[in-house]
Amino acid sequence: MVRTLKCMLLTGLFSLFMGSLVAQEIVINYDEAKIPAYELPDPLIFNNGKKVANADEWTEKRRAEILEIFAQEMYGHVPARPDGQHFKVLREETVYEGLGIRKVVRIFLDETGKHWFDVLMHLPKHASKPVPMFAGLNFKSNDATLDERAGSRWPYELILKAGFGVATAWRDAVEPDGKDSMIGEADFACKDGGVRAWYNQGGDWGAISAWAWGLSRILDYLQTDKAVDASKVTVIGHSRLGKAALWAGANDTRFAMVISNCSGCCGAAISRRVIGENFARIDTSFPHWFTREFDKYKNKEANFPADQHWLAALAAPRPLYIASATEDLWADPKGEWLAALHAAPVYALFGKKGVKANFPAPECPDFSETVAYHLRTGKHDITAYDWQQYIHFAQRIYQPK
Ligand code: GCU
Repeated sequence: MVRTLKCMLLTGLFSLFMGSLVAQEIVINYDEAKIPAYELPDPLIFNNGKKVANADEWTEKRRAEILEIFAQEMYGHVPARPDGQHFKVLREETVYEGLGIRKVVRIFLDETGKHWFDVLMHLPKHASKPVPMFAGLNFKSNDATLDERAGSRWPYELILKAGFGVATAWRDAVEPDGKDSMIGEADFACKDGGVRAWYNQGGDWGAISAWAWGLSRILDYLQTDKAVDASKVTVIGHSRLGKAALWAGANDTRFAMVISNCSGCCGAAISRRVIGENFARIDTSFPHWFTREFDKYKNKEANFPADQHWLAALAAPRPLYIASATEDLWADPKGEWLAALHAAPVYALFGKKGVKANFPAPECPDFSETVAYHLRTGKHDITAYDWQQYIHFAQRIYQPK
């Protein structure tokens, strides 16, 4: 009897313990059949419930409302260009058997000379006029991209041969990708600390906003470089840096085109599908990417006032390219495509078209209109195949025959 009681007590305690474990567990769904019923919010309804009537109302009023929702509730606000920003070309050399010029430019963020990050540029050497550019952050360091070119993340020769230039800066030189990166000394080179600690004018801004801010600082420089056609700069990013590219393109309309490669949750993927990575998971693993306001949406995607097709639509009327990979289920390829699809009503205000109505098969890029999408066979990555599609698209847009 005593034994049975003891046993019951232990079982009870055990299930209580397991219960609390289960409560903490974040469930990840990969089954389309288990996607909750959801309704996508309409980007063309003002906060006051009225309908956006035309392109002017979108550009002058609704766009700002949406930008504020993402700034307030997800990424934090992106501050303006800092006073005293200036640039210095550190090095310039001919590379790839005369195909390109490699240039390293230091972006000083103020007059002290203490806060800076470096941009690595490749420009076609024999261009007869200023060139269109791709601009994006990299994961491992500027120098590492030189080794990654063969592995196709940064296929410099391919880009140069197509007549484009490309500029990149190291993500961590702008803002380290660590949970503690808000903590830092006031006086430091950004390379060693993080821009949020130094330039904390955005209030509670996450690393994604800091990276977006860095991308705009690269564009500030590109606008001063005579070899560059600054009216044709495409912001591009892969994965977490694809989230940053979308957010940079939303905030800074000087970017002429926006490319998101496998950007997934809080990038291009529709959140209300709650498939693959979800809000609870991303905000638990990477809280430093977001404003703290975002915490309240853990396990509550449907409460978020927007969804990611609104973020995609903030690129309008500029060309937007979203891409996914078949095996990248964590990023929800279908959800990324749906964001491209549902951005269409905003593009339509400008007489522009989005993607076709059917989810395309792998290696069948849908890029004949202003919003483009492709699905590549394979893993979470940005490859030469992806770059080739982006180049084709950009060639059509920037250099019409
Ligand atoms: C993780 C993260 C994603 C992110 C990715 C990346 O997988 O969960 O949200 O996009 O890293 O940046 O590679």
